[in-house]
Amino acid sequence: MIEHIFADNLLAGRVAFVTGGGTGITGGVARALAEAGARVALVSRKREHLEPAAERIRAGGGAALAVAADVRVYGEVERAIATTVEQFGRLDIIVNGAAGNFLCRAEELSPNGFGTVVDIDLKGTFNVCRAAFDELKKRGGAILNISATLQYLGTQMQAHAAAAKAGVDSLTRTLAVEWGGYQIRTNAIAPGPIEDTEGMKRLLVPALKDKLRHRIPVRRFGRIRDIEHAALFLCSDAASFINGAILVVDGGQWLATSRLLSPE
Ligand code: HXC
Repeated sequence: MIEHIFADNLLAGRVAFVTGGGTGITGGVARALAEAGARVALVSRKREHLEPAAERIRAGGGAALAVAADVRVYGEVERAIATTVEQFGRLDIIVNGAAGNFLCRAEELSPNGFGTVVDIDLKGTFNVCRAAFDELKKRGGAILNISATLQYLGTQMQAHAAAAKAGVDSLTRTLAVEWGGYQIRTNAIAPGPIEDTEGMKRLLVPALKDKLRHRIPVRRFGRIRDIEHAALFLCSDAASFINGAILVVDGGQWLATSRLLSPE
C-alpha cells in the first residue's frame, strides 16, 4: 500500500531509532520506515517485544536491530544510541513512541503513578533527543514525537498522560527552534483513537466503541497505517520545511468532542 503512495526507497540510506518500536503504533511506524528503505533500531524495555518485530522486518528484506533500553534511564539510552551507530554507522531519524498509560482518577493516582508516566513519555522523549543530538547534528535529521490529543481538553482519568503529552508538545516546539539551525527538524503526530493498539484496549470500554465511532467526523477509527503514512511524510525530505508541527491524525475526533450543539 505504501509503495503506491510514496516513492520507492523514500528513506534509503537513512538510519532510524524507534522507541516503543516493537508493538502498536510505533511498531507499525518502524516497519513502515524499514519498508521505505531505512535501517531501523527498535528500542524498548523488553527485548521479547522487540525480537519478533525485528525478525519480521528482516524477513521482509529490511534491516532491523533490537536494543533493550528503558527510556527513563539516560545511561541506557546513551548505550542504545551508541549500539545503533556502531551497527549502522549513522543516525538520521528518531521516533519517540515509548509511552505508558492507564485510566485513573487524579484523586486516586499516586505520585509515583503520575511520575512514572511523565518519566516514560516526557523525560524519555527528552533523554532520547538529548542522547541522539551529537549524532543527528552531523548530517541533520528528523525527530518525530508521538503525542496525543488528550491534553487539548480536560480529559478525565488522564491527568498523568495528558500532562506528559502536553510536555511532549512543548519540547517539540522548543527543540524545533533550538535545533533547526543544525537541520534537525522536530515534529509530532497526535494520533486519535487507533484500532488494534494497546492504548485503545486500555482506554476504551468495549461497550462505548460504536458510540465513539459515530462521533468521529469521518465515521471510522484510525488504522496504524494512517499513522505510518503521516510518519513517513514527516520523516522524509518532502517535509524538509516542516519543523515544530504537531500533526493531528484523528479523523477530526477531538474537534468534535463534547460540543453542546449536535443534530442529536
Ligand atoms: C493506577 C497505576 C496503574 C493503574 C501502574 N500504576 N498502573 N496506578 N492505575 N492501572 C502506578 C503503580 O501503582 C505505581 O505507583 C506506579 O504507577 C508505577 O507502576 P509500576 O508497575 O511499578 O511501573 P512500571 O512497571 O514502570 O510500568 C507502569 C506502566 C505500565 C508503564 C504505567 O503499566 C504501562 O502502562 N504499560 C503499558 C504501556 C502502554 O500501554 N503503552 C501505550 C500507551 S497509550 P505506586 O505508588 O503504587 O508505587 C498512550 C496513548 C495515550 O500513551 C492517548 C490515548 C488516546
